[in-house]
This record gives sequence, structure tokens and C-alpha cells, in this order.
Amino acid sequence: MKNPPKIDAATGTLGILLVGMGAVSTTTIAGVLAVRRGLAAPIGSLTQMGTVRLGKRTEGRSPLIKDFVPLASLDDVVFGGWDIFEDNSYEAAKTAGVLETDLLEKVRPELEAIKPMSAVFDRRYVKRLDGPNVKKGKNKKDLAEQLREDMRRFKQENTCDRLVMVWCGSTEVFLTESPAHATLAAFEKALEANDDNIPSSMIYAYAAIKEGIPYANAAPNLSADVPALMELAETTGSPLAGKDLKTGQTLIKTIIAPGLKARLLGIEGWYSTNILGNRDGEVLDDPESFKTKEESKKSVLDYILQPNLYPELYKDLCHVVRINYYPPRGDNKEGWDNIDIFGWLNYKMQLKVNFLCRDSILAAPIVLDVALFLDLAKRAGMEGVQEWLSFYFKSPMHAPGLYPEHDLFIQMMKLKNTLRFMRGEDLITHLGLEYYD
Ligand SMILES: NC(=O)c1ccc[n+]([C@@H]2O[C@H](COP(=O)([O-])OP(=O)(O)OC[C@H]3O[C@@H](n4cnc5c(N)ncnc54)[C@H](O)[C@@H]3O)[C@@H](O)[C@H]2O)c1
Repeated sequence: MKNPPKIDAATGTLGILLVGMGAVSTTTIAGVLAVRRGLAAPIGSLTQMGTVRLGKRTEGRSPLIKDFVPLASLDDVVFGGWDIFEDNSYEAAKTAGVLETDLLEKVRPELEAIKPMSAVFDRRYVKRLDGPNVKKGKNKKDLAEQLREDMRRFKQENTCDRLVMVWCGSTEVFLTESPAHATLAAFEKALEANDDNIPSSMIYAYAAIKEGIPYANAAPNLSADVPALMELAETTGSPLAGKDLKTGQTLIKTIIAPGLKARLLGIEGWYSTNILGNRDGEVLDDPESFKTKEESKKSVLDYILQPNLYPELYKDLCHVVRINYYPPRGDNKEGWDNIDIFGWLNYKMQLKVNFLCRDSILAAPIVLDVALFLDLAKRAGMEGVQEWLSFYFKSPMHAPGLYPEHDLFIQMMKLKNTLRFMRGEDLITHLGLEYYD
């Protein structure tokens, strides 16, 4: 096994750049400001509240993760970003309607000071949106250069030591890998040629990675998940993570499915439907954007259940996912899952889950954790795909030739073992035979 990396200290200021300052971004920013002021607890955040067990169970060593690995402190974080609308973060948070006015008023001046930089945007990739705060450029290469300039200026004006970028923009239309994504040389040529295979999110990803900045994708669109950008990340030392935050219905799915499989209960059908009324729901009402989301949401069961190994239990599973745009609910999504299962002697049973969740409340701590862990990875010299952050994503990025790991509990073990490895602690296998010697 490799030796633990040397990790640079988290000194100075970390700039967290969010692309798209909508519901998820503003809930993250306002939340961090509120936590920093002691107005609320960072519930749902592993970096802020999680612990990691070290050594044997008898040793009683379970430090907080933030005391175990050198993470940037919330006091040392500043936020910036881009959006196609000119609203500052306070106005955008009001429009998103996730957080209550009372809380927003308490952090209002800080939110108002965060104004979006002008965006790289093309309606071809997000059909239901249009806005005025958009850059013009000679071609996509020129737009990428403008973004790089934005990052450098932000870093200087905010006296940041380091930056990370998280795409929290709308879900773009479904695209598959093309020759333009195959190598860095082909990609750079395609940028110059304004190739349609390069959507806005890839221009941001390219710009960040070119600057050596860690990049994560909270949405399901391809973005950095193509060979050309992985190649670039290897050369500039950018850690990458994505895609599509695992919140709401898929989180519950990846909690329940491993449990049913562990007990070898068969599944005949899994019907998932949602109603959602925020801007994300409106964008997903476009069939091309929904297709990107659907692919991301549907893959998890196949990988968790392994129908090739358990054909009698899962081969004929009928898995349906629907999202319906329903404005009255705003950001408060309601999801229904009907799961048709079978047990001993083929006897049938049903499981119903009705999750009345708040999408952005579930997403915000993930954006924070991913940003802080990617900054840690960068300081530890870990470039390219960070599979240990699969825990947070519906479609985890993974090395070519590997299948992605979707089981939340395996993902958790992988994450914590990576932290143990980084600090030179023994990995935990849960074998435990030594307690009975
Ligand atoms: N909330 C969740 O639980 C969750 C879970 C998984 C994934 N996501 C994804 O995260 C993303 C953000 O979700 P949200 O609820 O905040 O959506 P939102 O619609 O509230 O915010 C998205 C913002 O991105 C902006 N935008 C779009 N294209 C842009 C571009 N090219 N450059 C700059 N800004 C751009 C939009 O103007 C909007 O303000 C979506 O893609 C969503 O699918 C959210």
C-alpha cells in the first residue's frame, strides 16, 4: 500500500466558488454564515459533526473528523460564484424560498455582499431558463479564459490562499461522451471550434481544472466526468468529485436497497415518483434535462443489487422514476416509493415510503463537506477522481474499468478509511477476531 500523503496545513482563506446561485448554493452560504455566528447547528455535515473511530473498539478513540484531519475552518471560508441572474445571494435566497425570513435577516448584510459574476450560459443546454447576466466571447475557449480571469481576480480581491469550485447550476440536457471529450488536445480544439458537445458546465470545469482548482459537480450533467478533463486534472493536480448530490429519494433508496439485499429479499418492482416546485423542478420539466437526471437516478439499483450475481432475486426488477413539476410545493419535495418485494417461498410483500423532504436542506451540508474535503485532497496532493467522496453522489465518478460503488454503507467505510489512511492510522475491517483471542 502507498504511504500516507504529506498534508499541507489549512492556513489562510479558502474561497468556495459556486456556479449557479440558486436554492442549493444560497442555502449552503446562508447556513455557513448562520453556523459561524452560532445561530444554528451544522446538522447533516460530516465534516462539522462527524466522528471517526480509530484503533480497536477498546481504545475509545473517536475524534471529530475536523480535529483528525486538517480541514479549513468555517471562519476561514469566503463564498463567490456566477449566475445568469444579477440577484445578490440575499435576493436569490428569498426567491428560492427555502430558508425563513427570520434567519435570512440575521445574515442579510453578508449575503447581500455576495453578488454573482456574469455567467457562461447557452440556452441550448438549459432550455427553460434565460437571464441577463451572461458573458459574450469570441468562442468557448475565450469564455473559459474569462472564467479563469474571474477566479484569479476573486482570489486576489478576497485574499484567498486556495479556491474550490462546485457546479450548483441547473441540470443541462442529456449528452453522452463524444470524440471531443476523448483527449485534452481534442477538447481544446473543440473549445476553439465552438463544438456543440461542450456545454457551459464543461467550460467552467475546464477553467477551474486548468487553474489547478478542485472541482465538484452537484448536478448529473457530464461536466468534468470525461477523459479529457481527467487528463487535465492529472497534470494540474486538481481533485475531482461528482456527480449529482445524493439527497432525498435516492439517499433513501441507497439506504433501503443494501438492507433488502443483505437479507436476500427479492425485488420485483420499485416505482419512485416525486412532486417538486422549485426552479430545479421547472428545469427538469424539460424532457432533455429530465433524461440526464433519470439516467443518474436509475443506475443505483442495478449496481447495488447485482442482478448478474442474484438473477432469481433482481433480474426482472422493474424500476421506474418520475419527477413532476408542481409549483405549490416549492423546494419541499414529496417523494413516494412503492417497493414490491418477495421473500421465503416467493411470498409477496410491499413497502411504501413517503418522504416529505426539503431538497436544499439535504443538499447544503453535502456541498460544504465536498468543498472542504476537496480542499483537503488538494493539500494532500491527491489529484483526479476522488472515489472516496462517492458517499455524497448519485452517480459517483470512478476509475475507467471499475463499476461505481453505490451502497451508502460501503461508501461511508471507504470515506472514513481514506481519512485513516491519510493520517497513517490502521484501516478498520470490522473483523474483530482479536477481541476473542
Ligand atoms: N437540491 C437537491 O437536493 C439536489 C440534489 C441533487 C442535485 N441537485 C442539482 O443541483 C443543481 C442546483 O439545484 P437548485 O435546486 O439550487 O436549482 P436552482 O434552479 O435553484 O439553481 C440553479 C441556478 O443555476 C443557475 N444557472 C444555470 N445555468 C448556469 C450557468 N451556465 N452559469 C451560471 N449559473 C447558471 C440558474 O440561474 C439558477 O439560479 C441542479 O442541477 C439540481 O439538479 C440538487
